[in-house]
Parts: sequence; structure tokens; C-alpha cells
Amino acid sequence: MTTSGQDRTKNTKLLAWVDQMAALCKPKDIHWCDGSEEEYNRLCQEMVDAGTLIRLNEEKRPNSYLARSHPSDVARVEDRTYICTSTAEEAGPTNNWMAPDEMKAKLGDIFDGSMAGRTMYVIPFSMGPLGSPIAQIGVQVSDSPYVVVHQKIMTRMGQKVLDVMGEEGGFVPCVHSVGAPLAEGQADVPWPCAPNPADKYIVHFPIDREIWSYGSGYGGNALLGKKCLALRIASSMAREEGWLAEHMLILGLESPEGKKTYVSAAFPSACGKTNLAMVIPPKGFEGWKAWTVGDDIAWIKPQADGSLRAINPEAGYFGVAPGTSMHSNPNAMLSLRKNCIFTNVALTDDLDVWWEGIDGDAPAHAIDWQGNDWTPDSDKPAAHPNARFTAPASQCPSVDPAWDDPAGVPIEAFIFGGRLSKTFPLVFEARDWNHGVFLAATMGSEATAAAIGQAAIRRDPFAMLPFCGYNMGEYWKHWVDFGAKLPNPPKIFRVNWFRKDANGKFIWPGFGENMRVLKWIVDRVRNESTAVESPFGGMPTRNDITWEGLDFDAETYHNLMKVDKAEGLAEAEELTSHFDQFGDKLPAEMEAERKGLIERLNASPDVWELPR
Ligand code: GTP
Ligand code: SPV
Ligand code: MN
Repeated sequence: MTTSGQDRTKNTKLLAWVDQMAALCKPKDIHWCDGSEEEYNRLCQEMVDAGTLIRLNEEKRPNSYLARSHPSDVARVEDRTYICTSTAEEAGPTNNWMAPDEMKAKLGDIFDGSMAGRTMYVIPFSMGPLGSPIAQIGVQVSDSPYVVVHQKIMTRMGQKVLDVMGEEGGFVPCVHSVGAPLAEGQADVPWPCAPNPADKYIVHFPIDREIWSYGSGYGGNALLGKKCLALRIASSMAREEGWLAEHMLILGLESPEGKKTYVSAAFPSACGKTNLAMVIPPKGFEGWKAWTVGDDIAWIKPQADGSLRAINPEAGYFGVAPGTSMHSNPNAMLSLRKNCIFTNVALTDDLDVWWEGIDGDAPAHAIDWQGNDWTPDSDKPAAHPNARFTAPASQCPSVDPAWDDPAGVPIEAFIFGGRLSKTFPLVFEARDWNHGVFLAATMGSEATAAAIGQAAIRRDPFAMLPFCGYNMGEYWKHWVDFGAKLPNPPKIFRVNWFRKDANGKFIWPGFGENMRVLKWIVDRVRNESTAVESPFGGMPTRNDITWEGLDFDAETYHNLMKVDKAEGLAEAEELTSHFDQFGDKLPAEMEAERKGLIERLNASPDVWELPR
């Protein structure tokens, strides 16, 4: 099985690095991935034989598989994630830090012999269309075949990447081990990993542009092109080079006249990026089309003419399965009909997948994500809440014709949104660029604090809290400076699909109906609608929204859009501690915006409402 690297590339730097990693990790053999279907099918078959994958019903779910992870390995591990800049201050108060030398010494120990008894796969991948001026090449060595088949779906992977690299091309080295070396004769398990959380390390060296990940085989911990390269390392590159690497979806909105407007939107993890990226225009929007470019990450570069172009660096979707249905996200469901891998969902008796919130009745019997019998009476969910599907982007019915265009698509508006049950209206527009940066920097999202039955807000600036590769205060400053250089910076909007009424019910129907908000945003970009100034920002009156096809009365709309002065002032007050943690790295522009908000609230009535 061993393939020699010299047959595959003449890139001496790459060959030397692979030799060095093999000497450190001591795998039983090395396989250079070519990215072919044959290789994909063979590795999947090997994983079926090993019990890592289950082949699904060929009629219902052709060429698709289910994986069940170890129960300790089900999500990203933020407290084991490190940014190893020269000083702790460069990583900032929101990242874990260790001195690069100290961390490198530690990793040298941990990775020594870490791949014993396993194959080391060499996985060349491109984040972004091959050869795009915006794309970046990485090479991941990994002892996980599950990672190889994922990288085949999630990135452009294989020989074609080595060909683009050529003899001299650079790459981001990504070292990954599941952290479960096998002793001579030791039997393997279906999901090898290092079960003890303290043994896991997800480490970034922004200075050397290197990534090391140990102990986990799941998602963003293990697919190193995704959060590690495309967000943490890329955000640090982007700052140095004057572009943006963001936790954003990219969506094209086409009017009946055929005019297309692309927007990019940031929502924290599991807050609806995939849903919005695949939105289907509802009743009343006949002739409108919505096109998906990306659902998780956007790389955005300024052009000579001052416009912005964005690419989705990924080639697939790694989306949250629970809650996905023909009601909430038909385009996602249709993307999942074949050629997919599902992780930690339930298995039905006819070898199909099932999860909470999918269409139809629950099956009378299923096997849950841990491999146990499950019935609807069970007190545990059948699918893990962070169960995911992995699907090729090309299978999405709404995939944009330009999704793979090396030149990217033009971005004309930014949208930011958290999960907030109170205080924040459905939509408002930033007064200007810096106000927009403030709205993004102060974004929060709720996690229910069960103990007191109240919602606690976790600030998640730009939805980048777990993904910013340097000091978050400097990241805000980068955004401020970036906008200052643009002759006509895009408008910035805050949205909130999650405001609740006195009975705890969502006021806004959401999902496809979010198109009504997007349409107003497009109108604003095209200067075809006005905005009423509220203390928070510019707002659409009821007449500015297209209501055809939705029964949503004026009273409810005005409630959804109102600004409560006391709540607003409490929010502005809370921002003090959020800002204080950044010390002198807090851009002065942010505190000025906070003061501006307080002034506008003080000048407003107790409850500010849109004119009727
Ligand atoms: P990551 O892949 O983790 O980065 O997350 P994501 O932002 O792509 O998350 P995803 O789209 O999977 O978020 C799904 C969650 O958002 C589910 O809980 C949905 O019910 C919820 N959601 C999405 N859109 C809406 C909406 O318009 N209204 C409401 N109420 N919930 C929504
Ligand atoms: C997220 O957590 O924002 C994800 C999933 O998109 S993972 O790739 O696992 O980080
Ligand atoms: Mn994400």
C-alpha cells in the first residue's frame, strides 16, 4: 500500500516535510492520496470492514455511509484549542495561548510514535477553487481514513493539488493524529481517539502558518482545512495582507429581472447559516431565486476598483443534521440523497438515517448514535445534537453557477445575527461602516442557563469567538481599517430571527420567510427603499417589507421591531465588561459607538416604535 512520494511530486520541501513527519509519528506505512473515486471507495470499504462506517440502504441512500464517533469525541474542543503567537497578548484574551517553543516541545513528545500501527495518509488539498488567486493550499498528514474521505468531499483534494503546487509551491503544513497508536498485535476500535479531554490539542502557529491536531477525529478538530486553516490561520494571513477570512455564508439573491445581489452573513455555530445559505423564496416571491455559494466560511478580497469579491474555500457542507427537514431546509435535504457521510445520526431498521426534527413520524425502532436500541419512548435523543451530514456542494439544488468560479462573487452587504430572545428587533441597518463593526463586535447568542431558567448571553463577536487567530481587539481594528480603505463600503445589517413573545414563542416564522428581510436588504443596497432611524439603526416600516403570501399583522410587526429603552441601556452597560477585557487593544471607535448608542437611547421614548 505504501506509495512513494517521489512518484507524485517533485516538491522537495513537501517531500522533506513528509519524511520528517513520518520519522516523528512512526506510522506502519504511508499513503499519498490521489483524490480518485477508486481511492474513496476503497477507503470507505476498508472502514466498513473495520466497523467505522455502516453502508446505508443502496436504494434509499445510494453510496452513503453512517459513522458513529466515540462518545467523548462529538464536537470541537474550544478549551483545548491554542493560538501560539509570540506573546499571549497577540493571541488576546479570548484565545488559549502557550509559548511557541514550549508548545513545539510538547507536541514533539505527544506526536512521537502517535501513528504506530496505522497508515499515515498524505492529503494535499486546496481551500478554494484550484489555482484561484484567493485559494490556499494545505497538506494534511493524518492517520484517519475518515478524515481522508471527508477531505475528498469538503475540499479539492488529491493529485491535482500537487500538480498546481509544482516543484516550488508552498503549502500550510497540517499534522493530525487521532492519538491512538496501536501496539504490535493490538486490535483497533471503530472510532480511535484520545478519550481524555486533557490529552487533546488543536494548535495553531500563525507565525509559521502551521497546524497540529491531536486526539480527535471529529469535524473542525480533524478536518484541518476548515476551522484551523480557513479561519484561524487565514484570519491571521488576512490581517497581514489586507483581506477578510470570516465565519460567513455566501448567498446570491436574484430578482425577477435577473439582477443578482450577493450578501455574506455571519451567525454563530448552529444558529442558521446553512438554513439561510439555502433559503427558498416563499409564496409571494415568484420569479425570485436564491443561490448558495457557501454555508460556513467566506474569504473576501478587495479589488482594484474598491469592490469586494468572495469565495467559499470549501467544496462541501458539514451541516448540523438535527432540525433539518423538508420544512426547515429542503435544499439541504435534497443535497443528502446520495454520496454523503452521516456522523452520529440514528440508523433505521431499513438502513436509512433519522434524526430529531426530520420529516414524518419517528420510527418505532432505531439504533441511536451510540449504537443502542432506541424507541420513541426513550428519554435520550436518537441523534446527537451535533450530529452532522457531509455532502458535496455540487449536489445542492440551489448551488450558484459561480460557486466554483476562481474569481469569486461580488459582495454587496454584510449581515450579522445571533440567537437573542429579547431586546433585538428582526432587522436594522448600521448607520455607517464603523457602527456596523460595532454591531458585529457586540453580537451575542443565548445558551440556556438551566439553573435559573434564564437566558445567558455569550458574546460571539462576528461569530468568530472560537475562530479568530489573533487578538480579537485587533481583529475589530482590522475591520475598521479595512472599511476605511473602501470607496463605497457595503452596508452592514443586524438580524435576529429569534425574538420571543411573552409566552416564550418565536415571534418571527423564520426559515423561508427570512427572504422578506433579505429582499429589504437588497432594496437598501440598490437604494430602492428607505430606512427609518431608530436608536439601534435604520429600520423598514411595515410598508417596506413584501408581505404577499404571509399573514403577519401590523401589531405583531411593530412588537417585533420595537426598541425598549431600559433593555437597550442595560445592553450598552453590559458591553463595558465585554470591551474591558481587550484593554488598550479595544479600538477607540468601538467605545465611541457605545457612547453614541447610549445617547440615542437616552433621547428616545421608553418604548420606541416604528411610525404606523
Ligand atoms: P455551524 O455549521 O455550526 O457553523 O452552524 P450553522 O450556522 O450553519 O447552523 P445551522 O444552519 O445548522 O443552524 C441550525 C439551527 O438554527 C437550528 O436550531 C434551527 O432551528 C435554527 N434556525 C435556523 N434558521 C432559523 C430561523 O429562521 N428561525 C428559527 N427560529 N430558527 C432557525
Ligand atoms: C462550527 O462549529 O461552527 C462548525 C462545525 O461549522 S465544525 O466544523 O465541527 O467546527
Ligand atoms: Mn461553522
